[in-house]
Amino acid sequence: MSQFWKPGAEKPRLLDDEEGGVVFLSSSLSSASSIGYGYASIEKQRQRLPVYKYRTAILYLVETHATTIIVGETGSGKTTQIPQYLKEAGWADGGRVIACTQPRRLAVQAVASRVAEEMGVKVGEEVGYTIRFEDFTNKVRHLSSYLSIFGVIIFVMHAGISSLAVQDLTAIKFLTDGVLLREMMDDPLLTKYSVIMVDEAHERSISTDILLGLLKKIQRCRSDLRLIISSATIEAKSMSAFFHARKGRRGLEGVELVPRLEPAILSVEGRGFNVQIHYVEEPVSDYVQAAVSTVLLIHDKEPPGDILVFLTGQDDIDATIQLLTEEARTSKKNSSGLIILPLYSGLSRAEQEQVFSPTPRGKRKVVISTNIAETSLTLEGIVYVVDSGFSKQRFYNPISDIENLVVAPISKASARQRAGRAGRVRPGKCYRWLYTEEYFVKEIPAEGIPEMQRSNLVSCVIQLKALGIDNILGFDWPASPPPEAMIRALEVLYSLGVLDDDAKLTSPTGFQVAEIPLSIWVSGRGAQKELDEAKLRFAAAEKKVIEIREQLRRIAQRIGIVMKSCESDMQVVRKAVTAGFFANACYSEAYSQSGMYKTVRGSQEVYIHPSSVLFRVNPKWVIYHSLVSTDRQYMRNVISIDPSWLLEVAPHFYQQHRLNPIH
Ligand code: CDP
Ligand code: MG
Repeated sequence: MSQFWKPGAEKPRLLDDEEGGVVFLSSSLSSASSIGYGYASIEKQRQRLPVYKYRTAILYLVETHATTIIVGETGSGKTTQIPQYLKEAGWADGGRVIACTQPRRLAVQAVASRVAEEMGVKVGEEVGYTIRFEDFTNKVRHLSSYLSIFGVIIFVMHAGISSLAVQDLTAIKFLTDGVLLREMMDDPLLTKYSVIMVDEAHERSISTDILLGLLKKIQRCRSDLRLIISSATIEAKSMSAFFHARKGRRGLEGVELVPRLEPAILSVEGRGFNVQIHYVEEPVSDYVQAAVSTVLLIHDKEPPGDILVFLTGQDDIDATIQLLTEEARTSKKNSSGLIILPLYSGLSRAEQEQVFSPTPRGKRKVVISTNIAETSLTLEGIVYVVDSGFSKQRFYNPISDIENLVVAPISKASARQRAGRAGRVRPGKCYRWLYTEEYFVKEIPAEGIPEMQRSNLVSCVIQLKALGIDNILGFDWPASPPPEAMIRALEVLYSLGVLDDDAKLTSPTGFQVAEIPLSIWVSGRGAQKELDEAKLRFAAAEKKVIEIREQLRRIAQRIGIVMKSCESDMQVVRKAVTAGFFANACYSEAYSQSGMYKTVRGSQEVYIHPSSVLFRVNPKWVIYHSLVSTDRQYMRNVISIDPSWLLEVAPHFYQQHRLNPIH
């Protein structure tokens, strides 16, 4: 009970400490005094953050409650400060580790370096991070992310990273929620962690939701474990209800338990400035052009201050940067002071640093970003936000078994968050240039739909099965997935031979698949410049190929897979892809001139994406990795196949649907 009390620290006075009530704390509670790293300016910065006033309160609530839900404006210091407070209070003593999860890789890296800098240590020492194939804990860096062979980029999702770790010297560890789930396969109760902070919980990614469900289970066995659920916009009441509702708790009512099971809710009051919202009067059609014009208009008419533009993905960010650079160059007005930078996951370290570095005097930074800058990362100095009001979202239709990446309107909650980015340093302005005010008010949903309810659930099911959760339909989800989607996933896994008649993982195939789920895609772009860039990346990635191959070899050895080279026989590779993605097979109608394909399942109309090297080649049979909807449904990452392979690799599946693959 005394682990966080430091000499001189006062017991905080709770203003409203009723069960289930929101706990607001007076600012007189701040008593964090005994921190000293010799970094005065950084220390001052830390103390200026809104969360600092709540330091004692947070530590008290974490001590006394199994779950603490913390809501606070982006930039208030939740992610960078709370793990440090916990460490200072002793939660990392005795070799225990404080974990903080993020849905995005880039945020994990950025936050870990910031916290390491604040603590005056190197990343990989007391502060570490782990994302897929990159483990910067214990000073051991394991593996990298990409494996490229002959233009085929094989991206290996998940590996048994944690099993390679020897001993954790790291006190604070940032990691993606997906990586924490993988760690559960080796250590189901996550015993080395004293506190797990599930950050950005409002994003409701599939991994976050699975993690929340499993953490709730773990709490039953580990009364020493503390959870913090944090976010800028989370619906704290419903999250609290989820953690509080427990089966089999009858008889415990009225008994004072320590820690208390009823989650505590803490609201960190922010210090955002007012943001004026501007809408277009008429909807626009060319949104890249509209974004560029808006930025140039702000630059021309408005006082200094950086601009943040929200777009949907790398493609339209690149297009906007190109157009903005051209127009700024040829514009008669003074556009010389613009520094134009992209922000999306997959940026190099150097590119990331540019985005976060302070804007030189007399210049204006324009950051063109995906929704990563919505809540995950704080950019200083933003005064203007230009918001498309859209993001790329996954939508899955279990009836047709088609998962689409669709550019769709964001929720009102997200739009408010985006606008809020303009009010960090002084009153700002937000331009919503793709829809009118009336459309926003009437048509835009208040909250987004959790990813779990709009995705294909194949890998989710494998993960839960591997963790021994057999009754997946009865699992305690924060938001239940549609039963049709669950049934589809079970069906595909059965056809793949991963699950048996009792829906249990088969031995050895099912267990092996769970250990190394691979996802493969082909990257092929038409444009020569991009192709050259891709080759350059390939050259740089070569070293990583060796590393990642070595890791795969070790996993294969451990789980008893015999390695055999396919030499230069690429057919074997294509067959392997077919074995994994047979459900995504499509054929082109005989003599079709239009480039139209039909999916074998559901006879949906689809087209090869123009960026594919197979665009215009039009092989008769193809398998795609993903679908993107714009004016049509486009297949991305496509390979050609021989239809006879389908019967060979998935006889259950194709007989079951009574298909005749020989067209
Ligand atoms: O998590 P939350 O949005 O509440 O805030 P945070 O990420 O902890 O950020 C707190 C402060 O640290 C902000 O002023 C950020 O600008 C700063 N920070 C930074 O300078 N560099 C980073 N990589 C992350 C945060
Ligand atoms: Mg944060």
